[in-house]
Amino acid sequence: MKTALIGLGRMGMRQATVLRQCELRIDAISDLNPEACKTAGEEFDVAPENQFVSGEKLIETIQPELLIIATTAPSHHDLVILAAKSGVRKILCEKPMGTNLAECQNMVKTCHAAGVELAVNHQMRSMEQYTIPKHMAASPEFGGIGSVIVSAGNFGMAMNGTHYFEMFRYMTDEEPVLVSAWFSDNTLQNPRGAQFKDVAGSIRLETPSGKRFYMDCSSDQGHGMQVTYNCHNGRITIDELDGSMYYVARHPEHRNQPTTQYGMPYDKGARTITPADAVAPTRAVLESLLRGENFPNGEDGLLAMKLLIAAHISNSRGGETIDLRKEELPTDLTLPIA
Ligand SMILES: NC(=O)c1ccc[n+]([C@@H]2O[C@H](COP(=O)([O-])OP(=O)(O)OC[C@H]3O[C@@H](n4cnc5c(N)ncnc54)[C@H](O)[C@@H]3O)[C@@H](O)[C@H]2O)c1
Repeated sequence: MKTALIGLGRMGMRQATVLRQCELRIDAISDLNPEACKTAGEEFDVAPENQFVSGEKLIETIQPELLIIATTAPSHHDLVILAAKSGVRKILCEKPMGTNLAECQNMVKTCHAAGVELAVNHQMRSMEQYTIPKHMAASPEFGGIGSVIVSAGNFGMAMNGTHYFEMFRYMTDEEPVLVSAWFSDNTLQNPRGAQFKDVAGSIRLETPSGKRFYMDCSSDQGHGMQVTYNCHNGRITIDELDGSMYYVARHPEHRNQPTTQYGMPYDKGARTITPADAVAPTRAVLESLLRGENFPNGEDGLLAMKLLIAAHISNSRGGETIDLRKEELPTDLTLPIA
C-alpha cells in the first residue's frame, strides 16, 4: 500500500516508528521544516525526491493510498479534504481533529462521500488503562460505572482533555449531552509555539442516562493523571503514569444493599496495567484502520471537539450548563489549538 506521512515532529516520528513496526514502507514524507524531512528521510529511508515541504504537493504528486497526518491542528482539515478528493483510501489524522466544528463536520462529510476511511488518533479503546477498568466496571463485582473522576496536571483541555472526553464516551458507551466548564485564569506558554493556546481548568459532563465525568486539570496542578471509576459496588483507581491500579468492592452478599449502605466491609485488590504510552496504542489504531474495523473515526473526533467547544461556551457564561440536545453550537468558533 503506497504510504505517506505528513508532519514530522514529535508525534510524526512516533507515527513513522509505528509504520515501521507494521512493516509498511514509507514512500513519501512532508514537513514545513526541510531539516525535519532530511532527518526523517535518513532514519526511515525515504528518497530525497519523495520528501516535500508542502503536504499538498506530496498528496498531488504521490497520490498515496494510506496517509498519516501528524501536523498540528490548523492544517488537518485542508490536508484531509485534499487527500479525500485525491483518491487516498485510508487516513489517520492526529487529534484534535480540527480547530472548529465546521472543519470537523466537513471532514466527516467529505470522507464519507468519497468512501474514505478516516481515523482520528484518540487511542483510548486500544489502551489497557481503559479496556481493563471498562471490563471490570461492567462485571457484577463492580456493578457498572456511575461517575469518572480525572485528577490531572495542567495537560490542556484540547491537547489531552479531548482524549479524556473520548475515554468517557468509550467507558460509558454513551455520548455526553450536558457540559459545564470553568477555566483557569492564567495560561502558560504553549510548548509547541506562541501561535498556539490551550486552556486549563475543570469540566463536568453528563450522559443521557445520568453518568457523570469530572475532570480537573487546572493551571495550579503540576503533576500526573489519576482516574477513579466510581461503580455501584466499588471503586477502581488508576495512576496512569505508572500503571498501578487499586480497587475496592463490596462483599458479594452485600451487592443488593442500597447505595446508602456505603460503609460495609469490602475486598481490596491491586494490579498493574500497561502505563500510558503513545506508540503501542497508535499502532493498534493504525492496525484497526487497516483492517477497517472499530477504529476511532471522524464522528468520535467530532464529538470530542463538540464537547471542547461546549466547554468554551460554558466557561464564557460563568460555567452555565450547556445542553447539547437543546442548543446548536457555533460551527465557526475557532480555537488556536495545536
Ligand atoms: N494522539 C496522541 O496521543 C498525540 C500525542 C502528541 C501529539 N498529538 C497531536 O499530534 C499533532 C502533532 O503534535 P507534535 O507534538 O508532533 O507537534 P510538533 O510541533 O512537534 O510537530 C508538528 C510538525 O508538523 C509540521 N507541520 C505543521 N503544519 C504543517 C503543514 N501544513 N504541512 C507539513 N508539515 C506541517 C511542523 O513543521 C512540525 O514539524 C498535534 O495535533 C498534537 O495534538 C497527538
